[in-house]
Formats: sequence, C-alpha cells, structure tokens
Amino acid sequence: MDLNVALIYGSVRSERQGIKAARFLKRKLEERGYQVNLIDPLEYKLPFLDKMYKEYEAGQAPENMEKIAGIFREADGFVVVSGEYNHSLPPALKNILDHFQSEYLFKPSAIAAYSAGIFGGMRVAMHLRAVLAELGMPSISSLLPFPRVQDSFDEKDQPVNDFIEPSTKRFLDEFDWYMTALKRQRQEGTPL
Ligand SMILES: Cc1cc2nc3c(=O)[nH]c(=O)nc-3n(C[C@H](O)[C@H](O)[C@H](O)COP(=O)(O)O)c2cc1C
Repeated sequence: MDLNVALIYGSVRSERQGIKAARFLKRKLEERGYQVNLIDPLEYKLPFLDKMYKEYEAGQAPENMEKIAGIFREADGFVVVSGEYNHSLPPALKNILDHFQSEYLFKPSAIAAYSAGIFGGMRVAMHLRAVLAELGMPSISSLLPFPRVQDSFDEKDQPVNDFIEPSTKRFLDEFDWYMTALKRQRQEGTPL
C-alpha cells in the first residue's frame, strides 16, 4: 500500500539539536518507500495562531498554511518529533498543530521525543499523547525517545548509539501497521 507521512518538527531555535533526529527519521521513513514531507517551522513559517486554517475562505489562507493543509490532507499518518520545553511542547510545534483540525482525523500519530538529558523527552511525550488524541490522531503505543540528543547523531545525522536503529525499526513497524489498517478503514468511510 502506498503510504504518505507528514513528519512534524517543532523547534525554531538557532542552536536547535532535534533537527538531526528529524532528518534521521525522514531518511528511515523514506527507506520504507513512503512519501515523506518534513514540516519544519523555519521553512513553513506560520503566524502565531489567529485564525485556524478552517476559518479562512477557500483560497484565502496564507501560502504556507495552505501548503501544510495540503500535506496534512494527503498524509496517512503523522510522526511528531518533539523536544521537551519545561516538560511540555515547544511553542512552534503547538502553533503548527493548533492551526489544523479535520486534516488529522482518523489517522494515527507516532511520538518521537528528545531532550538534552537522560529522560529522552518522556514528559513531553505524555502531554503530546493527550494533545494528539484531542486532535483526532491518536498516538501508537510505542514511543521513540532520543536521550542526550545533542550527542546522539553525527554530522550526517547518523545515530552514534547502537539502540537507536533497532528501537526506530520497532517503532516504525508498529506505526506502519496502524497507518495501513486505518487507511483501509477510511476507504470504507468515517463517522465524521
Ligand atoms: C525553554 C526550554 C525548556 C527546556 N526544558 C527542558 C525540560 O523540561 N526537560 C529537559 O529534559 N530538557 C529541557 N530543555 C533542554 C532541551 O531538551 C534541549 O535544549 C533540546 O536540545 C531542545 O530541543 P531543540 O534543540 O530541538 O530546540 C529545555 C530547553 C529549552 C530551550
């Protein structure tokens, strides 16, 4: 089955570290033959939330918002790569997520979290689970943590720790199952 994944990354810091994890995941998703779009808030600049995408008349939304909406509409699943800021979501990530709604419905999400310390962003992962469920894209059971993210990838965004490749494989195998299952079921129709 052809699968299309939107990979959402949420840091705009000039010294950002998580972009290495995001690029690594983009490569791992592409190796599976998926169509992959990385939504990087430095590339797809959005205003702080004023109107949601759905509140614009057709064709009137800002260009980047329109582009992201198109990418999300086509996606069969969402991988969210999130740093941990004060145990919660980076503001640029929440800003992207909050702009959209119907584009997410009845599709799975998967949470890859990271932090500078040893906990690998597990506290933001718990917040994200609640947010993603509310948005209508419940997250798969597995989480993919990247502890000490600043030391975990080389200059080619290759992991330097042995555990990252096998844990990424398990995580993406599960995500693939949900994307495939829900895509089949969406073809039968959805309640909303
Ligand atoms: C505003 C802010 C809050 C942070 N809060 C936490 C935190 O609660 N827990 C943690 O483990 N690391 C925390 N950190 C450290 C981040 O995990 C680390 O800087 C990480 O690289 C941030 O992601 P980014 O580089 O992709 O922006 C915080 C960093 C910032 C900038």
